[in-house]
Amino acid sequence: MLLGTGGTIAGQAADASDNVGYTAAQLSIADLTHGLAGPEGMVLVAEQVAQIDSKDMDDGVWRKLLARVNELLGDESVKGVVIAHGTDTMEETAYLLQAVLNPAKPVVLTGAMRPATAVLCDGPQNLADALAVAAWPGARGVMVVFAGKIHSALHVQKSHCYQTDAFDSGDAGPLGVVEEANCRLWQPWPVTGNRSVLINALLKPARWPRVEWLTSHGNATGRLVWDLLAQRRLQIQSGADGDPVRGIVVAGTGNGTLSEGLIQALEEAQSQGVEVRVCSRCARGRVVSGGAATVFDTLALPPAKARLALMLDLVARA
Ligand code: SIN
Repeated sequence: MLLGTGGTIAGQAADASDNVGYTAAQLSIADLTHGLAGPEGMVLVAEQVAQIDSKDMDDGVWRKLLARVNELLGDESVKGVVIAHGTDTMEETAYLLQAVLNPAKPVVLTGAMRPATAVLCDGPQNLADALAVAAWPGARGVMVVFAGKIHSALHVQKSHCYQTDAFDSGDAGPLGVVEEANCRLWQPWPVTGNRSVLINALLKPARWPRVEWLTSHGNATGRLVWDLLAQRRLQIQSGADGDPVRGIVVAGTGNGTLSEGLIQALEEAQSQGVEVRVCSRCARGRVVSGGAATVFDTLALPPAKARLALMLDLVARA
């Protein structure tokens, strides 16, 4: 099953030589897969779930995608799911699907760095590779297949803003590669198990808990946190449906260290019932607990995934 959500893979530019001045999410998944021969013995069925630039991903689209993938995974005739997705938030969607669905079947996300109109567009090969991985015996879990590499949802991150080999699994490395429709694995397929009990809560039409993500930096005063707390107070006092902040994830410097101003503001946030988690803004490595960051609980995830992890934690405690 192929699901379309938009992205650059479905993007169009006015000029075939233009790799950056395009509009994402213009072509349907049916357009993108027209004439594409899937792996042998597999019938390709394409379905449009959304049509967005993934920078605009929101809880509504995630909920729709979670619901549809969950349904498809329960269908015996479905061997695997391939999702065409914008690259900008692909790692977030991959993490969310893995954390909630933990699928024993393969769910493979892919996309492109160049629009479908580009002379040397990368989308068709990525799509063919994703289908090959989804059809591979034993493949399971949520993965990102991009530029010939197979990444697990847990470790994958977008690491380049322009090049076609835009994804990386950091210190963990990719699970393997896909070459001419053959998978060569460097590591075993992800271990998968049961679906999270949170699925029902997440599929309800209610709002998911609001979690903000901030970064510590030179001259970080904590002012943004104080502003968030002031806004939260007003929202709670007025009783208006203003979605007060429930959690804050801070990408700290180095091993999760924070400026003194941020520490004070976050301690106040925590005392007012806002959950605080710290991770690292470093592109490589994960916070090692026991250091300066232990003023607050830490998450050994990059910030975009840590934000979702805290949101899921808040749903679990609701
Ligand atoms: C997007 O994330 O939807 C646009 C950028 C991309 O797909 O590379």
